[in-house]
Amino acid sequence: MCGIVGFTGNRQAAPILLDGLSKLEYRGYDSAGIAVRDGENETEVIKEKGKLRVLAEMTNNGQAVKGCCGIGHTRWATHGEPSAVNAHPHASDDGNVIAVHNGIIENYQELREKLIKNGYSFHSQTDTEVAVKLVDYYYKKYAPLPIEAIARAMVRIRGSYALCVMFKDYPGEIYCARKDSPMIIGIADGETYVASDVPAILKYTRNVYYIGNMEIAKLEKGAVTFFNIDSEVIDKKLTEIKWDAESAEKGGYEHFMLKEIHEQPKVIRDTINSVVTDGLVHFDTVSLTDEEIAELEQVYIVACGSAYHVGVDLQYVIESLTSLQVRVELASEFRYRDMKLRGKSLVIVISQSGETADTLAALRMSKESGVKTLGIVNVVGSSIAREADNVFYTLAGPEISVATTKAYSTQLVAGYLLALQFAKARGEIADERYDELLAEINTIPEKVERILEDKERIQWYSNKLVNVADSFFIGRGIDYAIGMEGSLKLKEISYIHSEAYAAGELKHGPISLIENGTIVISVVTQDRLIEKTVSNMVEVKSRGAKLMAVTTAGNYFLEDTAEFTCYVPKIEPLFAGSLSVIPLQLLSYYVSIGKGYDVDKPRNLAKSVTVE
Ligand code: AGP
Repeated sequence: MCGIVGFTGNRQAAPILLDGLSKLEYRGYDSAGIAVRDGENETEVIKEKGKLRVLAEMTNNGQAVKGCCGIGHTRWATHGEPSAVNAHPHASDDGNVIAVHNGIIENYQELREKLIKNGYSFHSQTDTEVAVKLVDYYYKKYAPLPIEAIARAMVRIRGSYALCVMFKDYPGEIYCARKDSPMIIGIADGETYVASDVPAILKYTRNVYYIGNMEIAKLEKGAVTFFNIDSEVIDKKLTEIKWDAESAEKGGYEHFMLKEIHEQPKVIRDTINSVVTDGLVHFDTVSLTDEEIAELEQVYIVACGSAYHVGVDLQYVIESLTSLQVRVELASEFRYRDMKLRGKSLVIVISQSGETADTLAALRMSKESGVKTLGIVNVVGSSIAREADNVFYTLAGPEISVATTKAYSTQLVAGYLLALQFAKARGEIADERYDELLAEINTIPEKVERILEDKERIQWYSNKLVNVADSFFIGRGIDYAIGMEGSLKLKEISYIHSEAYAAGELKHGPISLIENGTIVISVVTQDRLIEKTVSNMVEVKSRGAKLMAVTTAGNYFLEDTAEFTCYVPKIEPLFAGSLSVIPLQLLSYYVSIGKGYDVDKPRNLAKSVTVE
């Protein structure tokens, strides 16, 4: 996820671009850049790695850059690590086309090869440079209008984009194209703006157009013309923004956490699409060969917090699909163990930030032992991503809320895909079963979407938890792993004491804590373990517990035992964790706001624990 802005009018563009980008830093902040043109003069491009303030210092807050037309970008790297060369804007070598982009071009490799065959060379590792040079290619090959060159490129590009383009032959104009990534166009007297999101332009105008998918816009000073993919002019309705600035930054959601919960269908889809093409999983960035995977005997999954809970879930998935032995370890413990890692082992470290001190230390210890390492990481170019032998990037985009949700969900899906590929590489899964499981994984985004539609019921029930002091999460197998995550979510943002137990463990002590009114939340999605978990639910209910159940649609009998039952769509049980966690994320969110707490910045916590 990145932030883009554009301006053309009668005022200096650079300060407006930098101001707009500063309102979009929540969308990405590992590098930034602007391109500004003064009349017919050459366009000036300034870009650098690091937060926006680096660019502001380089340009004296934009004062040092002259020109009334320009585009800008703040980056969250998906292709190519954070660097000046990978920062946007990107340009054709002769400066004929200059652009910024938010989105993911899935077929950029294929397009890059096509352009190289046609004499183009590339300097960055980004998919955006490919898009820019593709537009330039069509512009020169067919000598069309800018919108026709862009339209031709849109037909060839697979993926998502919000693209802002400047052409040397058209000073003072900005051309925009959109598919799936957000983009709005603002209009004021003699001025026209474009941005990824409302906050960037709200200070200048509340009058905006929402450009639709596969549409193109031509921006001139104080005017905009819209076209469809066939270059025909289309009419758009002008809308007035009612939001205040702060709520606009959260996309209209009250908190980043709720916004990020709702981004899960999209980012899960993006993460799947990043490695799945034509019904097969391809790990270009995971250079483990099939032979190396086939020789593996032991997998260690090492992480902290929610990432550790992902590992607990994946242990069941990998063990079910392969003959691999899997151990899940807390990084803060693993790093101090006097453990002799076995030769044919793989250590998988999971980390949203890629900077968690304990996880990084565990990675380094593993590498010193000579075993192969793989990172499942969300931040491109982070320490763990750079030091692991292999990396699988989750495409969750920047996660602002301290309590992870969308990053956690993309880590789960990344793990499923790895497990599937391991099974295939080891010849431990039939093609039919592989296809069936991959198809099931592909249903996750839409099923998560359906659960989110049910959030009012969960909000209603959360009011019953606002004043409780203790809570227990129980489950078996994958349900236990999800219970762990649900328990952490509740305790970390609502400060209610909560513990997760393997349901079968209650009778070995914890059940003594159950008394009248104790809240027990049970996760019940694993078909072959349901009866066992239900008997545990009955045990605690008979001692006065108040039960909530999260279960798969169809298990209506649970309503005889639970006072509140939340259903998730049917899915292959191995992947049920991706669905059953959603109600628990929502529950913790609503309890926390019910208590009036700062959901996005809970006490004592930091987004990335880079200390030991
Ligand atoms: C989860 O909501 C917390 N924010 C925390 O447990 C987090 O998962 C943990 O600190 C690991 O962070 P990482 O994924 O960046 O390594």
